[in-house]
Amino acid sequence: MAVNLLLGLQWGDEGKGKIVDVLTKDYNIIARFQGGPNAGHTLEFDGIKHVLHTIPSGIFHDKAINLVGNGVVIDPVIFKKELDNLGKFNLDYKSKLLISRKAHLILPTHRILDAASEASKGKAKIGSTLKGIGPTYMDKTGRNGIRVGDLELSDWKERYRSLANKHEAMIDFYDAKIEYNLEELESEFFEAIKVLKTLTFIDSEEYLHQAQKEGKTILAEGAQGSLLDIDFGTYPFVTSSNTTAAGACTGLGIAPNKIKDVFGIFKAYTTRVGSGPFPTELFDEDGETMARVGNEFGATTGRPRRCGWLDLVALKYAVQVNGVTKLMMMKGDVLSGFSTLKVCTAYKYQGKAITHLPYNIEPENITPIYTEVKGWAEDLTGMNDASQLPKELNDYISFLEEELETPITIVSVGPDRKQTIYR
Ligand code: GDP
Ligand code: IMO
Ligand code: MG
Repeated sequence: MAVNLLLGLQWGDEGKGKIVDVLTKDYNIIARFQGGPNAGHTLEFDGIKHVLHTIPSGIFHDKAINLVGNGVVIDPVIFKKELDNLGKFNLDYKSKLLISRKAHLILPTHRILDAASEASKGKAKIGSTLKGIGPTYMDKTGRNGIRVGDLELSDWKERYRSLANKHEAMIDFYDAKIEYNLEELESEFFEAIKVLKTLTFIDSEEYLHQAQKEGKTILAEGAQGSLLDIDFGTYPFVTSSNTTAAGACTGLGIAPNKIKDVFGIFKAYTTRVGSGPFPTELFDEDGETMARVGNEFGATTGRPRRCGWLDLVALKYAVQVNGVTKLMMMKGDVLSGFSTLKVCTAYKYQGKAITHLPYNIEPENITPIYTEVKGWAEDLTGMNDASQLPKELNDYISFLEEELETPITIVSVGPDRKQTIYR
């Protein structure tokens, strides 16, 4: 049985959490493949909004197994908070939440190192969520990390101590004057580890292999977005994992030839939180309207998201890198009322119009070239069938499908599960 992937095509926050929740009814297993608590995945149903950071977005369904894959980095403290939140809804998560032994742990000192590194960068800071993501993946690739499976061994605390001591020396090196009380942070960390250890740790690649043999359906859930990918994103303003389709293979142990559909999610416009280039960013009333109507505040940090028009050059690049087979367009409802919409279809680069993403997309290097299309006035939020969509929106969708050479199969018209239109 094949595996499908679902991932964000822009700079994150496309609405992955909502769509994974909507699709879960069709899957036996939902498996997160990379990132950590830098992610904030929002889902909404029965008038309640839930934000998940590490736990896969299928957790609210009765039957599906939710797996935290080896490519994910876990902060036990944040994980415990997530579990506490689920507990408030009387959710029996223990029977349906599995954790890969090969997932790496975020230590308290990783978070402090993140803050020290950012502080040392001054104006060039990445705008990290400061959840310790970069330092944890550095320890993973540096072969120093502590993994979930290590918690089952007797000597893990000694390894922890020696790594934390090294981190303290590194924090001093930054001379960033970050105040912290390691004793307090450690007591919270060790308490959270106890809770983590009440969950089931598995050899997840073997589990997924057997599941495939048994014909189970698997949806791999990505975090962040393709333009934040460590290799293909707007480096260095990126996260520290492969957010693109290949990340699902390494982050779960799934072979590339087992992947069937790649669902690419994008907003009908563009947002970005944190620093880095953003060619179609708006600093005018249109941008403010998108931010206000779209309620564009980060689900993890609460920071305002920068807003701008849809960038088809960047989107096409993401479709290519991921091999997207089906597109899903989110937040179309936010654009209701704009008489004209702009879509960036090329960049002016070294005096010429180009339609691919060049190495450097800093504002001094490129200028977006826009195509204008007619907007729609209708409120979409109460619509539930494709036949109700206004003509101008259908034209917008057809234009994008043609440019991206990929069908748009879902149009989302609001944050609730029910505000989802299939085409
Ligand atoms: P994720 O990180 O990709 O899961 O996305 P986030 O949860 O960080 O951000 C998406 C935000 O948009 C959340 O607040 C969602 O509730 C909301 N959202 C998702 N789809 C829609 C939609 O179609 N319309 C509107 N207005 N909001 C949406
Ligand atoms: P979801 O899964 C949006 C951004 C940060 C920063 C950069 C590096 O909710 O879409 P990091 O904490 O990884 O060191 O931050 O990446 N970033 C996100 N932006 N959505 C996310 O996740 C993000 N995760 C990280 O704002 O610019
Ligand atoms: Mg998010």
